[in-house]
Amino acid sequence: MDINPSKRLASLPPYAFAEIDKKVEALRAQGVTPIDFGVGDPTEPTPDYVAECLTPSARAHAVSGYPNYNGSKKFRSAAADYMLRRFGVTLNPETEISSNAGSKEAIFNFPEAILEPADTVLCPSPGYPPMKTGTIFAESQPYFVPLLEKNGFLIDYAAIPKDIAQRAKMIWLNYPNSPTGAVASREYYKGLVEWAHRNNIIIAADEGCYIDIYFDDKPPSILEVDREGIVAFYSLSKRNNMTGYRVGFVCGDEKLVNIYKRLKTNVDSGVPNIIQDAAIVALADDAHVESMRRLYKEKRDILLPALRSIGLSTTEAGATFYVWQKVPGSDVEFAKKLLDPSIGIVVTPGSLISDVCEGGLNPGEGYVRFALVPSLEQVREAAKRLLSLRS
Ligand SMILES: Cc1ncc(COP(=O)(O)O)c(C=O)c1O
Repeated sequence: MDINPSKRLASLPPYAFAEIDKKVEALRAQGVTPIDFGVGDPTEPTPDYVAECLTPSARAHAVSGYPNYNGSKKFRSAAADYMLRRFGVTLNPETEISSNAGSKEAIFNFPEAILEPADTVLCPSPGYPPMKTGTIFAESQPYFVPLLEKNGFLIDYAAIPKDIAQRAKMIWLNYPNSPTGAVASREYYKGLVEWAHRNNIIIAADEGCYIDIYFDDKPPSILEVDREGIVAFYSLSKRNNMTGYRVGFVCGDEKLVNIYKRLKTNVDSGVPNIIQDAAIVALADDAHVESMRRLYKEKRDILLPALRSIGLSTTEAGATFYVWQKVPGSDVEFAKKLLDPSIGIVVTPGSLISDVCEGGLNPGEGYVRFALVPSLEQVREAAKRLLSLRS
């Protein structure tokens, strides 16, 4: 039987990391355990108080039953309480919030609910892949806008050609940004929202993943500036070391949240109640997040001097646990050099997580991303190993 993926699935870009993965495998085969700064998946445990509420919650839901498609009332209220406490943004839990199964799901699926075939969607480059792949799956067109150092890695919306802006139906934002660590200010958001409203563009803000992992001022939510035509995506994955729980929420303009809710009734049957109960406890706590911020800062303060000592110029990002490091020459070659058995460090080459923009520019070229997820001990060890690159 001739079995093939759909044209839509086949049209998604191929997996870019095959070559790097092969090198990592070869290292392991040689008995070298690499220090892995590659994937942004926290390796610190989920807080005990979160794990401990699972069994009581399972007992309370003795008859399992399907959960609410859009989250229990208690979960949506906990999300509303968090948004009020953290940003001073008041949201109606009935109409302006829905649970999601982690924001990847929501980011990938949302375009399907809002776009028509051949619509144009503005996607940042570098960017979180589901923004682009969800757009392609919805048979729409991503138009990549570069995140450049000279603009503080903010989207230069005023530089987007007029015809593209007029044609665009939606723009994806991600601040605090992976991989650059950039933070958008309220002033920036005000300008961007004004531009988007003028051009009738929906703003999809993937802002909640790293918004509580900051080192300077607290990053704002775009919802502090406006709500009309804006939908924001939140996740507990990095805030609470809960990547494995798969839970977050979507909030903002009632009309957009309602469209997402309608989509959800067709896509899945809701986030498990025990996971929602765990998320309620996690969202109410700020102390653990503070301890994680301190830990990431400690790791960053070990890694950056090591990078400087090998002749690289470094910058301290305002937020996220990423270091977006400029390197001499090719980022892929630099990443391969770090995979030499004498160093054994895995990083993500910037050009592989970026897309080519107008004029043939790949904004990730010449950068590598370090995710500060290895243990403190491993980061110390990596700093030592990097010294072997001193010329
Ligand atoms: C920028 C960004 N947005 C969203 C997510 C999705 O997180 P999750 O699906 O775990 O909620 C990630 C995960 O790495 C991310 O880096």
